[in-house]
Amino acid sequence: MERQDVMNASPQPGRAANILGQPFTLPNGSVIRNRLAKSAMSETLGTLHDNRPTPALETLYGRWAEGGVGLCISGNVMIDRRALGEIGNIAVENERDLDALRRWAAAGTRNGTQLWMQLNHPGKQAPKGLNRENVSPSAIPFRPDMARFFPVPRALAEAEIEDIVRRFGRAAEVARKAGFSGVQIHGAHGYLVSQFLSPHHNQRGDGWGGSAEKRRRFVLAVLGEIRRRVGRDFPVGIKLNSADFQRGGFTEEESLDSIRALAAAGIDLVEISGGTYEAPAMTGAGAAKASTRLREAYFIEFGEKVRREVAVPLMLTGGFRSLAGMAAAVESGAVDLVGLARLLAVEPDAPARLLRGEEPLQAIRPITTGIKPVDRMALMEVAWYTRQLHRIGAGGQPRPGESALYAFASGILQNGWSTFKRNRALA
Ligand SMILES: Cc1cc2nc3c(=O)[nH]c(=O)nc-3n(C[C@H](O)[C@H](O)[C@H](O)COP(=O)(O)O)c2cc1C
Repeated sequence: MERQDVMNASPQPGRAANILGQPFTLPNGSVIRNRLAKSAMSETLGTLHDNRPTPALETLYGRWAEGGVGLCISGNVMIDRRALGEIGNIAVENERDLDALRRWAAAGTRNGTQLWMQLNHPGKQAPKGLNRENVSPSAIPFRPDMARFFPVPRALAEAEIEDIVRRFGRAAEVARKAGFSGVQIHGAHGYLVSQFLSPHHNQRGDGWGGSAEKRRRFVLAVLGEIRRRVGRDFPVGIKLNSADFQRGGFTEEESLDSIRALAAAGIDLVEISGGTYEAPAMTGAGAAKASTRLREAYFIEFGEKVRREVAVPLMLTGGFRSLAGMAAAVESGAVDLVGLARLLAVEPDAPARLLRGEEPLQAIRPITTGIKPVDRMALMEVAWYTRQLHRIGAGGQPRPGESALYAFASGILQNGWSTFKRNRALA
């Protein structure tokens, strides 16, 4: 059968469950108990003033671990407290919070689940007023309609770049010591790693920019430093854009070349996503072709291309909704792991159902208020899902039916309009 036919064929529920239930062994021998992975969702459950992990994380991650997922990737954890992406981020700069991180890791690895910490630096993608200043490879402003919310960044000095590379390594070492099963570099969605890779955001003329190879130097330096600190047996993955969907941005060809270079440098897992704040394709906005949407996964065609060209474990995230769609993607050989985000915010035990051969109970619907300016800025999507994560973290149940208008109104009442706007950004 042609791959296209395989993707369109729907395995029977029992067979689909068997496909998703197969363990997956990473090249370093580490075993993920099934093919379902929770993709990163920023919980913003850190303390507001000093970015420390809170007990709500233990409740939330315990719930996911018991819900059957094989690999659970944390929301983005910042490697520098001076560079946050959102209010309430957790930051890991040293062993200050080792005990709290240990409790989080212990809860999230229950039931044989692997828990990886996603490490991030937002670069320029941090809203005005959150950090003292924002930095980036080059001082390129945001597109005009977003420039009101995001300041023009300052270009990093070389010594600062080297410091950031060391910080990624240090945070990974702390994650390992705390009992996390691996780490993931956030190289997608327009944050600092992704800014370095992009010819639009990185217009440096020194050793860190100017050619595709030099733009790749930063991510390879980060991987090298992490590896030096954690050793070969500790899984290190990366989330990478298939493309930025931005004129003059990171293309599929460059993404493929980056994946080749990362595979040669010993990355253990590549998760494919796409988009940036300026072109938010990661949640399906506009980027996917109709044929792709029909096949659920937004970036499956790129996943297939990578699979043909590079021998590296692959996870694909964005758009997976049905048992048949997930199983078909694995069975076709295009991907090894299926990444799920929004579904697991409203149905944390969906993996257990899928592994029994049952469809998820919840359908992912557009989160809109009907108030045009709010919906145009996609203010609600992240805010609404974050509310669900907070509910689970507080020991309660998500409310899949909650109206976006109600959530919007209570968000404004609780936090005020400006904080709500500041928090809107998608991690
Ligand atoms: C509330 C929320 C927070 C997110 N935070 C992160 C994050 O911290 N890191 C990241 O790589 N992606 C983040 N994402 C993107 C998701 O990981 C995922 O790529 C996207 O939601 C598409 O997958 P889905 O269709 O299964 O939801 C976030 C998405 C949502 C809805």
